[in-house]
Amino acid sequence: MSHSELHADVTDSATGETVTIQTEHGLYVDPKALSAHLPALSYRDDALYMEQVSVDELAKQYGTPCYVYSKQAILDVYQAYTDSFASLDHQVCYAVKANSNLAVLGVLVQAGAGFDIVSRGELMRVLAAGGAASRVVFSGVGKTYGDIEYALTQGIGCFNVESISELTLINEVAAALNKRAPISLRVNPNVDAKTHPYISTGLKDNKFGITHEDALAVYQQAADLSHIDIVGIDCHIGSQLTEVAPFVAALDKVIELIHSLRDHGIELRHIDLGGGLGVRYIDETPVSIDEFAEALLPKLSELGLTVFFEPGRSIVANAGVLLTQVDVLKPTEHKNFAIVDAAMNDLIRPALYQAEMAVIPSTLPSDGIDTNGTKPWDIVGAICETGDFLAKDRLLSLEAGAVLAVTGAGAYGFTMSSNYNSRPRASEVMVSGNNHQLIRKRETVEALYADEILWQDK
Ligand code: LLP
Repeated sequence: MSHSELHADVTDSATGETVTIQTEHGLYVDPKALSAHLPALSYRDDALYMEQVSVDELAKQYGTPCYVYSKQAILDVYQAYTDSFASLDHQVCYAVKANSNLAVLGVLVQAGAGFDIVSRGELMRVLAAGGAASRVVFSGVGKTYGDIEYALTQGIGCFNVESISELTLINEVAAALNKRAPISLRVNPNVDAKTHPYISTGLKDNKFGITHEDALAVYQQAADLSHIDIVGIDCHIGSQLTEVAPFVAALDKVIELIHSLRDHGIELRHIDLGGGLGVRYIDETPVSIDEFAEALLPKLSELGLTVFFEPGRSIVANAGVLLTQVDVLKPTEHKNFAIVDAAMNDLIRPALYQAEMAVIPSTLPSDGIDTNGTKPWDIVGAICETGDFLAKDRLLSLEAGAVLAVTGAGAYGFTMSSNYNSRPRASEVMVSGNNHQLIRKRETVEALYADEILWQDK
C-alpha cells in the first residue's frame, strides 16, 4: 500500500469519530478511537492502560498470553442493569458461562448479583465464590439426575426446564429427596434474534425450550406433579443481540402466555428474560442497557412479577483483554502473518463464529500512525490449523516482541479455551485502580498430563 493511500484514509480518525477504516488492503481499527468506547482502557501518551495500570507492565509481570479484567468495568455494567430496572423488583443473574473465574464471580457476589448456571460445575464455582444457591437459576437442556440432586440439596433458586422429560426427572429427584423443586419453563418463542446461527436459540429449529404452543399444556402437567413448585417463566432467544425488537417480540409472546396461565389458575412469581444484550467489539452499535430497559419496562411493570435477567457477555466482554506477544513476523508475497503467542485454543471466537475482535497495540508510535510500516497482517497462533487466527487483514505496524491486546475478550474467552496442541491455558489477572492481582495461574504442561496413565502390559 502506498503511503498516500493509507494517509488519505485515516485523516479524520483522530477526532475519535471514525473507529474503523476499511480499505482494499484490510481493516484499520483506530486504537485511540476504539479505546474511547471501552471504559476500562485508555492510551496515556502512547501507552495502553487498563484502569490505572500499564498493559506493558502487566505483560512483563505476568507473561503472555494473559487475560486481564477490569473490576470496575464489570461492576459498572452490573450496576447499569440494576439501576435501569430499579423501579421493578428484579434480580440480575450473571451468566457464569461467559467468564467463570472465581474472582469475577466473587466481585459479582459482593455486588449482590444472582447467577445463571448450566452445569453442576458452574454451581460449585458460584458457591466457592461465596454465592447463595437460592439466587441461582439452573438453565440448560441436558440436566442429569446427579446435577438435579446436587442443585436441590444446595437449595437452588429455580430450574429453567426445557422438556417434559426433564420436568418428570426433576419431580422424581425432588420426591426422592423429599423436597419441592422450584421451576420455570423455558419457552421458545420462535423469534429471530438476528444473530450468528450458532448462538441463536429462540427459533423453533433450535434445541432449546418448550414451544410457545405446548407451554400451557406442560405448565398444567407441572401443576399436577407432587414435588414441583411452579415459580416462573423463562425465555432466552440468543446472544450478541444488538437490537431491541427481538427482545420485545419475545416478551410479547411470554406475556400472552402469562395471561393464559392466569386464566387457567396458574400464578407465577417471576419472569426471566434470559441474557443476550450484545456489545461493541469494533464498531457495532448495540442498544444500550437504558434503551433496553425503556423498551421493556412499560410491559414488565404491568405484570407485577419479579424480573430476572441472565446477562453474560455484556457484563464482562469489554471488561477484558487478551494480551499476546508477537513472536514471529512472516511477511509473504500474498499475505503477512504475525504469529503471536495466543492461539485458537486461548480464544476460539474468531475461528468458531468468524467473530471480528479488535487487536490494538500496547504502545503506539509516538508520531501518530506509522504510515510507512503499516501493513495488512493476519494475527495467527502457532497451532497446526489454518483456522487458527485471531484476526485477519488488520492494518498494523508490527515488530517481533510487540504486545497486542485483543479487546472484548472478557466474555467467552478463557471459558472456551482448551489445551489443544498441549498448550497450557493462559493466566488471568484482575485490575482495580492501581492494583492488580493474579486470579488464575498459567497452567503448567505437567498439569495437562498429570491425570493420564501409561498403559501397562499385563
Ligand atoms: N442464559 C442462557 C440460557 C444462555 O444460553 C446464555 C448464553 C446466556 C443466558 C447469556 O447470554 P449473553 O448475555 O452472554 O448473550 N460462546 C458464544 C456465546 C454463547 C452464548 C450461549 N448462551 C460467543 O462467544 O459468542
